[in-house]
Amino acid sequence: MQKPLLETLKGNPGDKVPFWFMRQAGRYLPEYKEVRATTKSFMEFCYSPDKAAEVTLQPIRRYNMDGAILFADILVVPDGLGQKVWFEAGHGPKLSAVSDEKSFSDLSMASFHDNVGPVYDTVARLKNALPADKTLLGFAGAPWTVATYMVEGAGSKDHGAARQMGYGNPGLFSRILDMLVDATSQYLSRQIEAGADAVQIFDSWAAALPEPAFDAWVIEPTKAIVDRVRADHPDTPIIGFPRLSGAQYERFVKETGVDAVSLDTGVPLDWAAKKLQPSVCVQGNIDPHLVVAGGAPMVDEANRVLESLKSGPHIFNLGHGFVPETPPENVGLLSETIKAFRR
Ligand code: CP3
Repeated sequence: MQKPLLETLKGNPGDKVPFWFMRQAGRYLPEYKEVRATTKSFMEFCYSPDKAAEVTLQPIRRYNMDGAILFADILVVPDGLGQKVWFEAGHGPKLSAVSDEKSFSDLSMASFHDNVGPVYDTVARLKNALPADKTLLGFAGAPWTVATYMVEGAGSKDHGAARQMGYGNPGLFSRILDMLVDATSQYLSRQIEAGADAVQIFDSWAAALPEPAFDAWVIEPTKAIVDRVRADHPDTPIIGFPRLSGAQYERFVKETGVDAVSLDTGVPLDWAAKKLQPSVCVQGNIDPHLVVAGGAPMVDEANRVLESLKSGPHIFNLGHGFVPETPPENVGLLSETIKAFRR
């Protein structure tokens, strides 16, 4: 049986537009909260294959999306390298900051695959559990976005600590990025070997970097990962997401060699259709806050997105992940709108 989402990623779109949503598993779903409540630590939850597989499947049962995204987190990679990672309610992620040579020397690949092994088990379970027409998506954070958390020791508004290290101590910063390229390439290849049909690299904080920094911290590490994963798995599509990178999207697509690119809410659609879609599949890009509002404005915007991108390969998605206050019935209406559309 064909997987419509995977076919579209490979440049063979059908008459329906396949869809999935970033953060489709998560706190807007009561059934997610129920399973989540059985494990105190979020990282431990990510490393529980039975629970992680269950919450991955929950949104598919409700809405019948074409793609299921593995439930885990981008911070699994620094955790696997030996950095302490934990989540505090109301404060988001916390990490033991990698701020100098000494803290960097605590990280290593030695136990990486053992540490993150439960994630590969989750993928293998999903491979068995998913209907044959569904595409299983693996993922990882891009080195730049993951490094912003590693260097800051937390989430931050402008990623000042990582930018300052990148400019002020480029030697150390590039060694952090190199280690992330190595870990992330292996991590994605293992997900593919466990059953992922395609993978997405999330560069959520690629915004507002000057061109030379965008080249060194976003494009080069992403290209290195694409090259390495593709060498082992030439047929597995790779989706990039350089969120909020504006006109630099175009260079990102050309230079990294990704098969598809996820559009943030601010990317103009006629521009994407003209400049990006001729060479890659595009994904996106409805505003997640419009799905909180719901109703006719959401349906109209979904149809505008579908119409604007119908002349090339398009996967419907959000411009960023669902927020916890999203009413589940609005996700239902959005899903029905996409399913009713024909290219
Ligand atoms: O999309 C999915 O449904 C798959 C699972 C997934 C999660 N995180 C689950 C999660 C994916 C793909 C991610 C990626 C991720 N994690 C990104 C990149 C995508 C993006 O949203 O920009 C980033 C930046 C992170 C880091 C992270 N993890 C943050 C900032 C938070 C929120 C902290 C908070 O408490 O609000 C998380 C935690 C997290 N990851 C949750 C979920 C469902 C919520 C925590 C919970 O349920 O207890």
